[in-house]
Amino acid sequence: MEDILKSITASIFQQDDWGETAQYIPELASVDPKQFAISVCLPDGKLINAGAASKPFSVQSITKVFSLIAALGRTGDQLWSRVGREPSGTSFDSVVLLEKEKGRPRNPFVNAGAIVTTDALLSGREPKMALTEILELIKYMSQSDDIYINEDVATSEQETGARNKALAYYLKSHGNLENEPELTLGTYFHQCAIEMTTDQLAMAGASLAGLKGAPAVLSLQRARRVNALMMTCGHYDGSGDFAFRVGLPGKSGVGGGLLVIAPNVASVAIWSPGLNRYGNSHAGTRAATMLSNATKWSVF
Ligand code: DON
Repeated sequence: MEDILKSITASIFQQDDWGETAQYIPELASVDPKQFAISVCLPDGKLINAGAASKPFSVQSITKVFSLIAALGRTGDQLWSRVGREPSGTSFDSVVLLEKEKGRPRNPFVNAGAIVTTDALLSGREPKMALTEILELIKYMSQSDDIYINEDVATSEQETGARNKALAYYLKSHGNLENEPELTLGTYFHQCAIEMTTDQLAMAGASLAGLKGAPAVLSLQRARRVNALMMTCGHYDGSGDFAFRVGLPGKSGVGGGLLVIAPNVASVAIWSPGLNRYGNSHAGTRAATMLSNATKWSVF
């Protein structure tokens, strides 16, 4: 595995096209796109790393996996009355389907669906409490205390997040937001601004991969279902292409992170901040493809 990761890293640094960082969040736009890290957590809990695996980056939409696990733990299957389980075929911040489908987002990974999930975690308590639940779950799953929210990133998105605000108010108009939009949005922006390293993120995926010794935070059936959603919806309108290339459940973030689950085999975290046209890591997707080809971990 060490040789495979070294060879993937070398190949990534030979490329010229790194993609473009997320331009709509100023704090992320200024990150150097020519960076790369990969970490693999194996069934015995051993971590293998290559590249900048100890450098914290903004995990952004990858937190939607953890807020989904927390919300399912809090509300159970009731959550599905508010958010669907189908791929959207639209970009992560699209408004189109929300209007057509009367305020019920297609899945928990598009922004509208994640805003509903965060709203379900917020009801009946202060934003600080909901955020603490998400952060503590992530720390527990990654078995690391050294994970923080980057306030500058949260502020940066709060100031420029007109589209997410539109989505939240639209959800509210359809009665699918229980809290004041600004409160839910504030919680969501802070959740997205959590920073992790790839070695922490790979560890955090161990429970979803069903690896021995991973914290027991969700049942086998729930892990299978979250993985199914990652496979079908985790890369938005690029989900089919990711399944085609990699053949594994994955969740991307606009910070350039990627969490990939090989059920019963491994949890993988990859980071490279330049994005492709779907808003998913450009080099990260290439690296995931190379890893899947080298290991034959595709579920297909
Ligand atoms: O809400 C947003 O737009 C960002 N905080 C997160 C979006 C994201 O990470 C999409 N993933 N590729």
